[in-house]
Amino acid sequence: MPETLRYAGIVGVGAYAPERVLTNDDLERMVETSNEWILERTGIRERRIAAPEQASSDLALAAAREALAEAGVAPEELDLVIVATNSPDMFFPATACLVQDALGARRAGAFDVSAGCTGFIYALAIGSQFIMTGTAEKVLVAGADSLSKMVNWEDRSTCILFGDAAGAVVLEPVPEGYGLLAVELRADGSGGPLLTLPAGGSRLPASRETVDRKLHTIHMQGREIFKFAVRVMGEAALEVLRKAGVSPDRVGCLIPHQANLRIIEAAAKRLGLGMDRVFVNLDRYGNTSAASIPVALKEALDGGYVRPGDYVVMVAFGTGLTWGGALVRWLPEGRREVLSTRRCREPNNFPGQNSPSDDGKFFQTRRSKTRWPSEG
Ligand code: ACO
Repeated sequence: MPETLRYAGIVGVGAYAPERVLTNDDLERMVETSNEWILERTGIRERRIAAPEQASSDLALAAAREALAEAGVAPEELDLVIVATNSPDMFFPATACLVQDALGARRAGAFDVSAGCTGFIYALAIGSQFIMTGTAEKVLVAGADSLSKMVNWEDRSTCILFGDAAGAVVLEPVPEGYGLLAVELRADGSGGPLLTLPAGGSRLPASRETVDRKLHTIHMQGREIFKFAVRVMGEAALEVLRKAGVSPDRVGCLIPHQANLRIIEAAAKRLGLGMDRVFVNLDRYGNTSAASIPVALKEALDGGYVRPGDYVVMVAFGTGLTWGGALVRWLPEGRREVLSTRRCREPNNFPGQNSPSDDGKFFQTRRSKTRWPSEG
């Protein structure tokens, strides 16, 4: 194990969304809702829906191929494939193993990360650790979800929200001061009952009854999740900036989890950022769960919203409950010619991180009295 840590950065990004578009007008014909209600309450206009034969690994594979091509990395060069997903193809094998095989990443290890819609931030942090310690040279991190397969299409409070997509990034060592500068990973399992897919696991194995009670679909207490999200998104963003000693006014682009425009606006306000520095594409994709941040990142890069040298904050929340953020400094032009600068620093601190993690005070919830949906 090397005595020094390296910086880990994103050197290629890919994204994929299925072809089929489901608009708010389409939903009006399926459940009692309206385009106006959905737009006003969420900001979503349309979302993409995976084809019956498409599973999350298929979406991840398309995004991964694009990310590898952009990075100029061959699949055989990968040391690790990590997929963040809440809708794996099946319980096992891991979706990451399916992607690893389909890519032909013969030398790579592969595993999934389950952290709700925060999954991509968790997976990015995990993948980066392997680069930083010198355990890996090239890591693929994908976020892929097809929650349309797990939604109750008769439940208007959830079926309007979610869409299917995947995004992927390739991580490599990058020059000092660039790449991932700070992360914040948080969880509060007492809020688990607020957003759950109750049946099909070891707690409540599949049975005729679980199917009849639609316990294999998403159950959510939207209002509670909303309040939680408004509270934590801005805090997580501020926390990564504090750790890295970067002031909010230096942020070039905020890439928030795309769940609800009102939640995003609240996070931006907390940071004192104008919406011109916040990337939003949820009007076209809805909430694509673990895919939302890498898909938004790809579109932000393509649209010139993230420029070389920019500080980029990514922040998310999700089932678990989980939440977290990552601060990345985007590589300058000609980014990969000056690689592998190494620097000594304290163990367990991210590069650029000024102060120890946190005071553990900013988010304290009451113990949830919520009942799990399976409890009737
Ligand atoms: N169309 C019309 N009316 C609706 C719909 C709909 N699609 N859905 C709910 N309503 C009704 C409700 O029944 C309620 O009626 P009532 O007052 O007669 O009871 C009314 O609209 C208001 O409902 P609320 O739930 O209070 O509406 P709210 O403004 O909170 O918006 C929403 C609901 C959009 C779900 C919001 O709470 C939200 O976005 N929450 C966060 C959800 C989220 O992001 N989840 C994903 C987490 S990430 C992950 O890990 C997957």
